[in-house]
Amino acid sequence: MSQVTIYSTEYSAMSEDDRKAFATLVAFGGAVKVDRVRAGIQHQGAKLVIAKINGEMIGCAALKSPTEGYRAGLQKGKAQFALPEEAYPHELGYVAVLSGHEGQGWGSRLCEIVMLLAGRDGVFATTGTASMLTRILPGLGFKWVGVVWNGEQNQKDKKKPDLHLLVRPRLDNTENFAANRAKGNFGKCLPADYSSLKDG
Ligand SMILES: CC(C)(COP(=O)(O)OP(=O)(O)OC[C@H]1O[C@@H](n2cnc3c(N)ncnc32)[C@H](O)[C@@H]1OP(=O)(O)O)[C@@H](O)C(=O)NCCC(=O)NCCS
Repeated sequence: MSQVTIYSTEYSAMSEDDRKAFATLVAFGGAVKVDRVRAGIQHQGAKLVIAKINGEMIGCAALKSPTEGYRAGLQKGKAQFALPEEAYPHELGYVAVLSGHEGQGWGSRLCEIVMLLAGRDGVFATTGTASMLTRILPGLGFKWVGVVWNGEQNQKDKKKPDLHLLVRPRLDNTENFAANRAKGNFGKCLPADYSSLKDG
């Protein structure tokens, strides 16, 4: 029988094998290089969520601590939407599921755990991936904001993806993420055009 584990951790508590596996899994899609992921997961406060089957890392996601420079670049040059640290202290990112395990709910589950770690805090995310944009993030209460921009060239397919900014604003004291999620209070869909997007 397969042994499935899904848990949150941080860089300092991870084995070197797991650090490598995390960075390699995220970099596999070609959107970001291994070294950049390694640097990002070391940021103070970053929380990492990992899924394993029989000890093999098959999925990951992170509650990231964005740098001021990155945040400023998004605000001014890219999405053109204000992202003050007090309103959006975290970013959901580094979401990846090993090919062969996609489409089985791992991506949704990993992102849901990231949002549980964020509690009531505001969170932003950027993506060019259809399933994230139309299903996973809206299903967690994220809304599309700002303008679409052209991302860096993907190392694999050499294309420059259209990237989108989504935010889940801070919940007020009467709201509870887990309860909202259980009641299905989050919208699933963004504008109809997005239904034609394909992953990859
Ligand atoms: C994006 C990714 C993490 C999704 O992981 P996953 O485990 O396959 O996702 P899930 O199985 O949880 O599916 C999530 C939802 O997306 C839907 N979906 C799948 N492919 C889709 C597509 N091409 N367009 C729209 N929705 C799609 C599924 O039907 C499911 O919806 P539902 O929960 O409402 O039924 C995974 O495909 C991946 O690693 N992609 C490469 C890396 C990447 O793009 N990461 C995101 C960076 S922001």
